[in-house]
Amino acid sequence: MKKVQLTETVLRDANQSLMATRLPYSDYEGILADMDKAGYYSIECWGGATFDSCLRYLNEDPWERLRGLRKNLPNTRLQMLLRGQNLLGYKHYHDDVVEKFIELSIKNGIDVIRIFDALNDFRNIETALNSVKKYAKEKTIASGCISYTQSPVHTVDKYIEMCKELKKMGFDTICLKDMAGTMSPYEAEHLIKGIKDAIGDMTLILHTHCTTGMAYMTITKAIESGIDVIDTATSCFSGGTSQPSTETMFYALQQYGIDCGLDEEIINKVNDYFKPIKQKYVDNGQLNPKSLATDAQALVYKVPGGMLSNMIANLTDMHAMDKFDDALAEIPKVRADLGYPPLVTPLSQMVGNQAVTNVLVGERYKNISKEVKNYIKGEYGIAPAPIDPELSKKVLGDSIPVDCRDEDKKRTGEDFANAKEALGDLCRCEEDIMSYICYPDQTLKFLQNRKAQEENEAVYTIEEM
Ligand code: CO
Repeated sequence: MKKVQLTETVLRDANQSLMATRLPYSDYEGILADMDKAGYYSIECWGGATFDSCLRYLNEDPWERLRGLRKNLPNTRLQMLLRGQNLLGYKHYHDDVVEKFIELSIKNGIDVIRIFDALNDFRNIETALNSVKKYAKEKTIASGCISYTQSPVHTVDKYIEMCKELKKMGFDTICLKDMAGTMSPYEAEHLIKGIKDAIGDMTLILHTHCTTGMAYMTITKAIESGIDVIDTATSCFSGGTSQPSTETMFYALQQYGIDCGLDEEIINKVNDYFKPIKQKYVDNGQLNPKSLATDAQALVYKVPGGMLSNMIANLTDMHAMDKFDDALAEIPKVRADLGYPPLVTPLSQMVGNQAVTNVLVGERYKNISKEVKNYIKGEYGIAPAPIDPELSKKVLGDSIPVDCRDEDKKRTGEDFANAKEALGDLCRCEEDIMSYICYPDQTLKFLQNRKAQEENEAVYTIEEM
């Protein structure tokens, strides 16, 4: 019997997509022992925005969270999402930092590292892959991930080539990441059949979002076309900008006679556990019911839902909502000028802001943001298609584009030395140093809090005695 397995995303992507990653560890620690028995392919629980959110908003040590997850989920693969050379941040880190980060992630409990680059420039995921291979334990999986988008240059053939390349590089599995939820059932069928033919029995995973309302149809086609793993979220945290529902897919797969290895009683119990948690965040406004709605506009403009709401917020701030339609129409043009980058962080913000600027200034590219300039210079990697020559000339002048990997390769240990010095006696372990390199301001504040808290507790204990 054909097998399709499910990755549960409630702890990471559903949490990130629906409520800006504000779920504290303490909210879900109580259900982990049950989740460990559910039979998921993996639980996506770390990486993405969780790291930043722990330090910035939740006063949590992300490494401590990971160790807690590991302890309470001894039998389940723990999965994280990693932005290649950007790790969990927005800039390229040096190779020695990338390597150390992955060493520590595996050491603290991660099994599956899903690695992507916003531009699908695979030079930007090579160091991460090699580091996973270097520190891999028995169960470690390096998953090569493709940022899915639609454009004249993103053809089925092109995606098949990308998958062959990921296989050649040595990845263990391949994931198609449809972050905007714009992959149609038709596209899924052609893509997945083509890819499966090209990569043989290598595990293929589909990650999509319900944003545009297409996910259930697309996943159904994906299953019929031979997908091995799909990403779903427990039903009360599913739908809208999140993933399709775990229990619903379990039911549908049963009808197909497909075994997904899940325990029905336990996945229902997991959902029952999360229901009041969801309600708590709906009540306090952290989870906006708007994010649970279907937004088909993304299909027309190829713009992810989050990008639209950002744009509306910005234009409202500037009292320029009358320019909304013009700005929306400008986005696909800017994207074409920039060589059709997939609209995923950080490209989605860059393209959106530039489109708004072009419209508000009344002259295209009169003002070009620093980020877009750096992109045109090549600092993020190679664009999927050539950048508009006129625009390119305007930014580059007579200089030639840079190689984004030149700077990344510098192995100096400098980042570690600087972090150690900046942290002084606040630093206790390599994990503290790594947090600081990724998010210096937030980590400094977090570690100062930790120290103050412990000193208070020490005083308290002495008085008690
Ligand atoms: Co996602």
